[in-house]
Amino acid sequence: MATQGKVSGIVANMVVVKTEGAVSQNEICHVKDGDVSLMAEVIKVIGDEAYIQVFDSTRGLRVGAAVEFAGHMLEVTLAPGMLSRSYDGLQNDLEKMDGIFIERGSTTEPIDFTAEWDFTPLAKSGDRVVAGWWLGEVPEINITHKIMLPFTMEGNYTVKSIAAKGRYKVTDTIAVVTDAQGTDHNITMVQKWPVKKAVKAYTEKPRPSKVMETGVRAIDTFNPITEGGTGFIPGPFGAGKTVLQHAISKQADADVIMVVACGERANEVVEIFAEFPHLVDPHTGHKLMERTIIICNTSNMPVAAREASVYTGMAISEYYRAMGLKVLVLADSTSRWAQALREMSNRLEELPGQDAFPMDLSAIISNFYSRAGLVTLPGGSTGSVTFLGTVSPAGGNLKEPVTESTKKAARCFYALSQARADSKRYPAIDPLDSYSKYLEYPEVQEYLDRTIESGWVDKVMSGKTLVQRGKEAAEQINILGDDGVPVEYHERFWKSELLDAVILQQDAFDNIDAYTGFERQKYMYNMILDICGRRFEFDGFESCSSFFKELINLFKQMNYTEFDSPAFHDYRGRIEAKIS
Ligand SMILES: Nc1ncnc2c1ncn2[C@@H]1O[C@H](COP(=O)(O)OP(=O)(O)OP(=O)(O)O)[C@@H](O)[C@H]1O
Ligand SMILES: [Mg+2]
Repeated sequence: MATQGKVSGIVANMVVVKTEGAVSQNEICHVKDGDVSLMAEVIKVIGDEAYIQVFDSTRGLRVGAAVEFAGHMLEVTLAPGMLSRSYDGLQNDLEKMDGIFIERGSTTEPIDFTAEWDFTPLAKSGDRVVAGWWLGEVPEINITHKIMLPFTMEGNYTVKSIAAKGRYKVTDTIAVVTDAQGTDHNITMVQKWPVKKAVKAYTEKPRPSKVMETGVRAIDTFNPITEGGTGFIPGPFGAGKTVLQHAISKQADADVIMVVACGERANEVVEIFAEFPHLVDPHTGHKLMERTIIICNTSNMPVAAREASVYTGMAISEYYRAMGLKVLVLADSTSRWAQALREMSNRLEELPGQDAFPMDLSAIISNFYSRAGLVTLPGGSTGSVTFLGTVSPAGGNLKEPVTESTKKAARCFYALSQARADSKRYPAIDPLDSYSKYLEYPEVQEYLDRTIESGWVDKVMSGKTLVQRGKEAAEQINILGDDGVPVEYHERFWKSELLDAVILQQDAFDNIDAYTGFERQKYMYNMILDICGRRFEFDGFESCSSFFKELINLFKQMNYTEFDSPAFHDYRGRIEAKIS
């Protein structure tokens, strides 16, 4: 019998419930408000009082309303049929609603329970299996969806029977397994996972070593992220966080893309829905939406629903990872998630930490980031969840708690600079402040040596030095004037500008420039290093023009097509203006 309770107090979305029985932290419950049933989550329990956070508006709710506890935590339903869908943070299918706002108290099915799937068995009767074992598979759009022994089933099982190849609904029994005590269990294609507690759906978590192609040069060439890696993009308002994430979501070399639009403005979310269905994957030629799942909560949805969305996105991603797939999760913005945590903690009147964020903000963020990763699966193959979140620090202050906590948790740091955004140098990733700790991993260096070219990381470092020296030269020129510095300073400056224009700047809205594959990045970068490594003849500032002329000649030999991008043509224009 489920635990019951009665509402005894209401503070906005936080409701106090007098309970008649045991309830647990993070348990789900439903509040009866007239005809509607409002879903809520327990966020604090003291004696027979449970503090619950309602995932919906509590307007009009009365003291005395009945509450029924569900006996489990917030869960996601996992089964074939999730790809290309759009959910809210509680896994309601948004396409089954009017617009992107859900009617109060209503829920929708996350998958189609009537659809039939082409099942092929992978296990046979007599097989010894453990949680996560692939019992069979069904094709789901462009991926192969593995049907696994649910991860909630601990211990060893023996397959008693398995369904023959054929068409089945997700709720049909596709296998019967027997536990050590001899009890039979029916297995369907549906699993339920808690979202806030990571299910250990793997055997090991080795360090990531393979670099993931994003098609964004400032990332792949300068500060690459790995399959199973973590990174974050802090940037002031309007610096290009969302555009950068969208570019990555369109281009990245992953099997499944999870886009979590967490508390961003409603119109941005609508943009995703309008844009995504038409886009084509540069790797496969398939529709991009086919490999994408969107979770979206705008900042005008109740705070608890916003808080749940990043977890829901992560749980679904972990499930696809357990099938041996490469999953990329993009969350925009994790600051809104942290703000949701803050609002909840403030309502609970907890002792606040810095800037009124919860005291354990750092731990919450690192716990969350640690759910990403490369994993080895029970059957021996590997899967990965790569996580990339944006952070919007108020006033661009990188010393605020969310940025600082995230910096401790994520291995890649892509700092968007206001100055670069102001001068329209997009993506505004600061080439010197940003870093990828993966470049220090021996296994990543070895991977790059093998797949790109030997000594690649040294080349990356020499490019960074070039940019650094160019920046110093620019500062000196600014202070002392054109004629006040040795002519080499001009050379350094214009060389670093060339690297900046060709490699670092990339127009996300230009058909050709938006995406650059690894092969081409290597080609372009080598060419730039070659040009920048050349000694040009200089005999005084005036003859800097010989340097410029030589550069233009070089560009002409390349027919200008080698670096075809708006930023490059702009650079070329600046140089041509110098010599004309
Ligand atoms: N890579 C890019 N190429 C071309 N233009 C860009 C690029 N990145 C950003 N921009 C320009 O900057 C504008 C703002 O970008 P975006 O909306 O991504 O900023 P944001 O950091 O997400 O802002 P907010 O903090 O308000 O969410 C874009 O509308 C676009 O005009
Ligand atoms: Mg944005």
